[in-house]
Amino acid sequence: MSSLFYLNKYLVKYKWRLILGTIFIFISNIFFVQQPEILSEAINTISGQLESGEENTRELILKTALTLSGLYMLLAVLKGVFLFLTRQTIIVMSRFIEYDLKNEIYDQYQHLSFNFYKKNATGDLMNRISEDVSKVRMYLGPGIMYTINLFFLFGLILYKMISKNPELTLYVLLPLPIMSILIYFVSRVLNKKSERVQFQQSLLSTIVQESFSGIRVIKSHVKEKQVEAKFNREAENYKRNSMNLAKTNAFFMPTIILLIGISTILTIYIGGLQANAGTIERGEIAEFVLYVNMLTWPFASVGWVTSIVQHASASQKRITEFLKEKPDLDENANEDKSVVFSESINLNNVSLTYENSGVTALNGITLSIKKGQTIGIIGRTGSGKSSLAYLLMRLLDPTEGKIEIDQQELAKLNLERWRHLLGYVPQEHFLFSDSIKNNIIFGANSDEISDEEVYEYAKNAGIHETIMHFPEKYDTLLGERGINLSGGQKQRLSIARALIKKPEILLFDDCLSAVDNETEEYILQSIKSDLTEKTAIIISHRISSIKYADTIIVLDEGKLVEQGNHKELLAQKGIYYDTFKRQEIQAKEENKKP
Ligand SMILES: Nc1ncnc2c1ncn2[C@@H]1O[C@H](COP(=O)(O)OP(=O)(O)O)[C@@H](O)[C@H]1O
Ligand SMILES: [Mg+2]
Repeated sequence: MSSLFYLNKYLVKYKWRLILGTIFIFISNIFFVQQPEILSEAINTISGQLESGEENTRELILKTALTLSGLYMLLAVLKGVFLFLTRQTIIVMSRFIEYDLKNEIYDQYQHLSFNFYKKNATGDLMNRISEDVSKVRMYLGPGIMYTINLFFLFGLILYKMISKNPELTLYVLLPLPIMSILIYFVSRVLNKKSERVQFQQSLLSTIVQESFSGIRVIKSHVKEKQVEAKFNREAENYKRNSMNLAKTNAFFMPTIILLIGISTILTIYIGGLQANAGTIERGEIAEFVLYVNMLTWPFASVGWVTSIVQHASASQKRITEFLKEKPDLDENANEDKSVVFSESINLNNVSLTYENSGVTALNGITLSIKKGQTIGIIGRTGSGKSSLAYLLMRLLDPTEGKIEIDQQELAKLNLERWRHLLGYVPQEHFLFSDSIKNNIIFGANSDEISDEEVYEYAKNAGIHETIMHFPEKYDTLLGERGINLSGGQKQRLSIARALIKKPEILLFDDCLSAVDNETEEYILQSIKSDLTEKTAIIISHRISSIKYADTIIVLDEGKLVEQGNHKELLAQKGIYYDTFKRQEIQAKEENKKP
């Protein structure tokens, strides 16, 4: 329950809607509880008129009936109007809070670092912002509304009944405690069962989703039957659980109606005795019967509301967990927006150990990257190349050692500014489900980008020709509803996106791996001419991507093992030399192929 206190700040923010909504609920209930009195009035007046035996009885009765039923309807309309206003305030408030909460979570997501995303599954992140928030909204909207309604309605009805006839009230309310206990227990059972159903449902949709996205694997391994059998098994479980829930549910409403029925019988019996004795009028019996029935729905909804509250508090607990998560990089360490890079990037004895796996990906790296230089970084898979890129992007901070930009420590610079200087093409490229043009423009620092500029950078990335061959050229949609690009095309598009940013420093993480040698050469040449003043850090496992670099470093198991230019490194006859020889033989063999 206490996790829901977190939402109080939003209730305070929208306090006027909540207060107004509460007032509207009260007013609508005031009109509602007048209705039984009108009925009682009608019965009493009409039976009086019947017994009086006057000549114009018919007209009198008609008149009473018309006025009182008119009044009754007027009350119903007024009640409806205020019910409408209640929904307009409280339900709308819950929608506003839903919106705010989603923004708050989304904002937090944007600030949380790389490590957080490695730790938490995407599905989980999605669930917090969609399912969990909507469960919380159910509490803020219907949950709060029905609870307030129950209190007012019960209070008003109790007041009406007691002021009319305390003795009858006592009898009428006799079954109520039993009802409350029953509702409490049944709703607990209902909650447990509906949780099981929900769990089974999400299991089922995971199976379905995986069998669709993995359809190629399933078909190629001829596993359709097994997958189907698994689905059937879980679907069967789902059916059993749902039936089980339906049974309890089916038992719930009739029980309430039975108890209300007992109340009604008691009212009529005791009321009848009292009317016989002349202590009350006949109309009052009808009035009390109506009161009792008016309480049915609010009481029946108690179970539902408790389950809403329970779900919401579980959901809010999960949400708060994420909101409390502190970004592990201090992004605003320096409010000073200007970050200049005019001399060099220096790594002093930098090491990086991943918290989760305990792997030391980088071990005592000391390196200086001068402005304007092109640096090549080469090494086997797992040698720590990408980790070095993460450090330079400051997606992670080193566990030991320091990275300095000019003379300033990177960790003390304004992160946003620093990242603006870098054009990073990650190893795992990612494109949005949007047009090719928008995917390129995404990288730009300014909003005003002409088409010509987009073409120019696409040309530099060696992808312009390919794009022009698509039927819709730069407006071609990518992703789920669009076309699929090949690995090399995606890489080149990611490069165009980095280039259009006009960064000071280019950081390519193995992003030419799926591009053929010729295109690779072309891209490297075209960015070189664009790069006279700029710094480039090119990570690769292929010699061809980096052999022109001013300095090449070789990483092996996280250590910097060789350093120099292409010629120097070949002369050293170390890892670089071996790699070169091996790749040369491979290239020759490939050329021999028809
Ligand atoms: N997010 C991570 N969490 C834990 N270990 C990681 C993570 N990323 C990389 N590693 C580990 O760090 C080492 C270096 O990986 P990486 O920098 O990706 O190498 P490369 O890019 O040269 O292939 C590997 O042993 C890898 O398993
Ligand atoms: Mg890598």
